[in-house]
Amino acid sequence: MDLFDTFTHHSSVRDFQPRPLSKELKQKLVTVAQSGSSSNFVQAYSIIEVSDPEKLAEIEKLAGAPNYITRTGVFYLFVADLHKHQQLLTQAGLPDTHLTTMEPFIVSVVDTTIAAQNMVAYAEAQDLGICYIGGIRNDLPRIAELVGLPKLTFPLFGLTIGYPQHRNEPKVRLPQEAIVSVDQYQPLTQEQTAQYNQTTEAYYAQRSRNQQQTNWQTKMTEFFREPRRPDVAAFMKQQGFSDHFGE
Ligand SMILES: Cc1cc2nc3c(=O)[nH]c(=O)nc-3n(C[C@H](O)[C@H](O)[C@H](O)COP(=O)(O)O)c2cc1C
Repeated sequence: MDLFDTFTHHSSVRDFQPRPLSKELKQKLVTVAQSGSSSNFVQAYSIIEVSDPEKLAEIEKLAGAPNYITRTGVFYLFVADLHKHQQLLTQAGLPDTHLTTMEPFIVSVVDTTIAAQNMVAYAEAQDLGICYIGGIRNDLPRIAELVGLPKLTFPLFGLTIGYPQHRNEPKVRLPQEAIVSVDQYQPLTQEQTAQYNQTTEAYYAQRSRNQQQTNWQTKMTEFFREPRRPDVAAFMKQQGFSDHFGE
């Protein structure tokens, strides 16, 4: 399949065959992840393959991802990681003050995400299915404990990859005019919103599994009317990031 078709046929897979990926394939996935760009070449991420069935079962439960973490090909945790840079500074006899602030944190989040999405693109080009698992952030302290995360690390998301049992129909994205503009930012117009609500309503009503009567605007307003994981800030402090995120 042409790479354009691979990208535009993406849909998250939540139902896999119970078939592990080979060692060679896993090595390739990590190689492509590592081949992505990295801000100032900091390479500020770690990838942890979770293979212990008990840990997988616990993560699956806390992330609310029924069966698609224990029954998959491989499950990775993607960790924004400035701990290794802290080690380098300590070895050099220098303080880590400038590692704990907002900018390096953003750098590590971007690096980690680029690595993950490289892995995803390669996996999908091999006809594998994937699903990111942000649900791991439902219990950050427990995740940190389960895999022994040190200071200045932050588990961003999981990634489950395997041979699909079922593929969902791709979701229609926002129209390009709603996200691309030239020279000047453009907010959403009411017309774009109404149009996209109609498109997404039809998608949710007609898809082959988990049909719902809803649309994008309803989903978004329901999602953001509640606080989203307010304990993230406390966890970051626990991990050694600056509590006010300034210098
Ligand atoms: C960072 C991130 C975290 C996600 N976390 C979850 C998750 O915990 N559980 C889940 O079922 N899907 C998760 N997803 C998948 C999204 O729900 C999905 O990408 C989105 O609904 C668009 O659907 P599609 O990927 O099928 O196109 C996550 C996606 C991203 C990018």
